Amino acid sequence: MQVLGIDIGGSGMKAAPVNTATGKLTAEPQRLDTPDPATPAAVAEALAELVRRFSWRGRIGCGFPGAVRRGVVLGAANLSPAWDGVNAVELFTAAAGRAVAVANDADVAGLAEMRFGAGRAARGVTLVITLGTGIGTALFVDHVLVPNTEFGHIELDGRDAEEVASARARKEKSLGWKKWARGVDRYLQRMCRYLSLDRIIVGGGVSKKHEKFLPLLTVGAEVVPARLRNEAGIIGAALYAAEARGGRGSGRARPARAARRR
Ligand code: BGC
Repeated sequence: MQVLGIDIGGSGMKAAPVNTATGKLTAEPQRLDTPDPATPAAVAEALAELVRRFSWRGRIGCGFPGAVRRGVVLGAANLSPAWDGVNAVELFTAAAGRAVAVANDADVAGLAEMRFGAGRAARGVTLVITLGTGIGTALFVDHVLVPNTEFGHIELDGRDAEEVASARARKEKSLGWKKWARGVDRYLQRMCRYLSLDRIIVGGGVSKKHEKFLPLLTVGAEVVPARLRNEAGIIGAALYAAEARGGRGSGRARPARAARRR
C-alpha cells in the first residue's frame, strides 16, 4: 500500500509517499518551513499544501510534535500553546479534504525503527529517542508501543531535559560534542534507572553524526543509532495510517503487524 507520510517538526514539515510493505519512500520528500507562529490554522494550511504537491488521493498519516490522544492534541511544547485541546484529526482532515491519521511524531518514528530499522530484532524494553528541536520518546515492550510518553520533559539538573539534551540545546548554546554528550548521558542514565531499559535507539537529525557522541556515553543499556534517520518520521506516519483502525487515525497507536504475529 502507498500512503502519504507527513512529519511535522518544530522547524520543518516534510512529506513523501511511502510503500508501507517495504518502508521505502517512493518519491523525493517535499519540505516546507514550519509556519511561525505555528498556529493550528497555519500548520493545517501548510499540510494541505504538501498534500496538493503530490496531488494525493490515498491515505495520509501525520506525525505531530506533541502528545495526541484519540486525535486530540494534549500539548505541543515546540509549536504553540494554541494547540492544546485541538482535534488535529478533524482539523487536518478538513484541510486536506481526506482522512488524515495523526499520532505523536516520536511514536511513529519509533514504529518505523522497530519495523524497518535499528529495532527490528529488539526484544525486551526499548526506548526510541529523537533528539531534535525537542526530545521525543517512544517506549516499546518487545514491539508493542506505549503511546504518548513525554520523557523529553523530565527534570534534569533543575531544568526541562529538552533544555539540556536536545539537538537544539547543543546548537543554541554552541556546546562542543563532549559537553553536550555529558548531558545526554545523564539524561539516558536517568531513563535507564526509571525504566530498566534493555536498549536505546537514538534518532533525530543529529543521529547522522552518532559517531561524535554515542562513543562518549557511559549508560548501561545498549545504545544504537537509528537507521532511518530523518525519514523515520515520514515512514512511521505512513505505517501508522496504514494500520490505524479503519485508516482514519483514531489517535491510538497500535502495535506493529509484525509484532502481533510473533
Ligand atoms: C513534545 C513531544 C515530541 C517531541 C519531539 C516534545 O517537546 O512534547 O511530544 O514528541 O518534542 O518533537
